[in-house]
Amino acid sequence: MNVTETTLQNVAIIGTGSYLPEKILTNSDLEKMIDTSDEWIRSRTGIEQRHIARDDEYTSDMAAVAAERAIESAGISAEDIDIIIVGTLSPDMQFPNTACFVQGKIGAKNAICFDIEAACSGFLFSLETAKQFLATGTYSTALVIGAEKLSSVTDWEDRGTCILFGDGAGAVIATNKTDQNKIIASHLGSDGKLTHLLNIPGGGSINPASLQTIEDRMHFMKMTGNEVFKHAVRCMCKAIKQVTAKCDMTIDDIDWVIPHQANMRIIQAIASRFDNSIDKFIINLDQVGNMSAASVPVAMDEAIKSGKIKKGDKILSVVFGGGFTWGAMIIEW
Ligand code: UT7
Repeated sequence: MNVTETTLQNVAIIGTGSYLPEKILTNSDLEKMIDTSDEWIRSRTGIEQRHIARDDEYTSDMAAVAAERAIESAGISAEDIDIIIVGTLSPDMQFPNTACFVQGKIGAKNAICFDIEAACSGFLFSLETAKQFLATGTYSTALVIGAEKLSSVTDWEDRGTCILFGDGAGAVIATNKTDQNKIIASHLGSDGKLTHLLNIPGGGSINPASLQTIEDRMHFMKMTGNEVFKHAVRCMCKAIKQVTAKCDMTIDDIDWVIPHQANMRIIQAIASRFDNSIDKFIINLDQVGNMSAASVPVAMDEAIKSGKIKKGDKILSVVFGGGFTWGAMIIEW
C-alpha cells in the first residue's frame, strides 16, 4: 500500500491578514537622502513608495497584527493554533526566533514556534513546511507569516539597494480540517553556490559583530543587483514550469499569479515568457516596494480582501530570494 498517498490530508487556507506601517517613504523623499531620482526609481523598478516601521515597531509587532487579522478572518481563536512559522530575514533578534515573540504577543499558548530563513522566498518555504505538518496530520492548524523590518538592515547610503525595500507583514491560517480550498502543488529550489550575490555579511559566525564590521557597513544588505535580476527571472520561470507540470497545467489554467514583488521589470520579463500573461499578475510593489518574505502574503491578502481572487480561482505564487532560494505553489481558492 502506498501509505503517503492514502493518508495525506487536504491543506486549506482559511484566513489571511496583513499589516503595513503608517509611515510612507516616497521616491521624492529618497531624492533628498541620496543621489537618485523619482524617474530612475520608477523606470528601473516600478516602485513609487514604501512603508517604513517606527523605531519602536519590530518585525514581531507587524507580524502579530497581521496574524490577529488572519485569525479573525479564519474565525478561530489564537489558542487553536498548533504551530507558528515566521519567514523573515530581519528577525527581532538573532534568537529567540520571531515566531516565539509573535506567540507571546497574540497568546497562542498551544503553538510550537520557529522561523524559516529563506530570504525573499521565506513565506513560501514556511507555508510548504506547514503544509507537511498538516498533510501528515501531525498538527491541525498553522499560522504562517512573512514579516520584515527591512529598514533595519538597509544601508541608507547605498542607492543600489535602499530604493527597493519596505517594511510590512502578511499572514495566513492553514488547516487540514476543511476542503474549502486546497494547495494543489508546490516546487522549491535552492543554489548555495551563489550566496555571495545577496546577503548580510556581518553579525554571523563568519564576521561576528565588531567595530570593524560596523565601520565596513557589513550589517546591511548587500546585493549585486544586475546578477540577481538575471537569476531571479530564470529561476522563477523555471519554477512556474515545474509546478504547473506537476499537476498537468499550463499558465492558461492559472487565474492569478502572485509573484515576489522585487522589480516590475522582473515581473514583466517573466510574464513575457508565458504568453504575455501580465494581466494575471497581482502587483502591489508600486505602493509597498520589495518586502522580502512579506511581499507574497501581503499581496495575497489584498487580492482576497478586494474581491479580485474568487472562490475556485487557481492562484500560482512564485518567489525568489537570497541563498539563492526560489519556489512556486498552486492553490485552488
Ligand atoms: O528580492 C530579492 C531579489 N532582488 C531582486 O530581484 C532585485 C534584482 N535587481 C534589480 O532589481 C536591479 O538590478 C536594480 C533595480 C537593483 C538595479 O537596476 P539595474 O538596471 O540592474 O541597474 P545597475 O545596478 O546595473 O546600475 C545601472 C546604473 C549605474 O550607473 P552607471 O555605472 O551605469 O553609471 C548605477 O550606479 O544606475 C546607477 N544606479 C542608480 N542611479 C540612480 C543604481 N542605483 C541608482 C539609483 N538612482 N537609485
